Amino acid sequence: MTPELILTNDGSHSFLQNELNETYHSVHGAIQESAHIFIEAGLNRCAKDQLHILEIGFGTGLNAFLTLHECESTRQKVAYTAIELYPLSTESACLLNYPDILASEKKDLFYQLHTAPWHNHIQLTPQFELYKIQEDFSSMTLTGYYDLIYFDAFSPEKQPEMWTKDRFSMLYKHCKPGAILTTYCSKGIVRRALQSAGFSVERIPGPPGKREILRAMKE
Ligand SMILES: C[S@@+](CC[C@H](N)C(=O)[O-])C[C@H]1O[C@@H](n2cnc3c(N)ncnc32)[C@H](O)[C@@H]1O
Repeated sequence: MTPELILTNDGSHSFLQNELNETYHSVHGAIQESAHIFIEAGLNRCAKDQLHILEIGFGTGLNAFLTLHECESTRQKVAYTAIELYPLSTESACLLNYPDILASEKKDLFYQLHTAPWHNHIQLTPQFELYKIQEDFSSMTLTGYYDLIYFDAFSPEKQPEMWTKDRFSMLYKHCKPGAILTTYCSKGIVRRALQSAGFSVERIPGPPGKREILRAMKE
């Protein structure tokens, strides 16, 4: 079933996945949420000039687009790997207003995030390389090593298989020393699963509508 386009409170779009009754972002503001959790609490905490980033749940491409935009002036190289089992159609992606709000001159780049072939390394800008993997995160095996992980799966209530200790242990193994993982979910069960996988975990203030989020680190 095609997800339904919705407008969130900061004026940016998101989608509602009807079968799970889950939105791709907070209804309080999609851009506001992604910028807070993944860019400010994640990307901007990484001092390295060359970064390997892994995203769990590519979805609308908003996190990738924010990263591409942010890194243009702040990093030399970003290799961005995104995992997604159910890619949006290009028609659906074209409905999203992110380029209009964030950087209309990068509209084509936003579409290229979606039209780029899967399982190919694509250099989208001099700084930003994209590698999309269409696989089931709950059972796949990773190969790369990462400095930063955007953990953006649907909620643990709806998809518990994405948030297990086993999955976080695999991520931990594929983190470089000092790597950071951020996620919108602050549930105790997720915090404890991250800790038992080896991460040090802190609760930090969330975006509007969310008191706390989690930031985990491989020390
Ligand atoms: C919360 S949304 C992601 C939001 C996304 N980061 C964005 O900015 O739009 C969760 C995403 O996980 C994807 N997904 C669901 N089950 C999955 C699975 N087993 N493996 C990989 N991705 C999955 C969904 O299709 C959806 O795009």
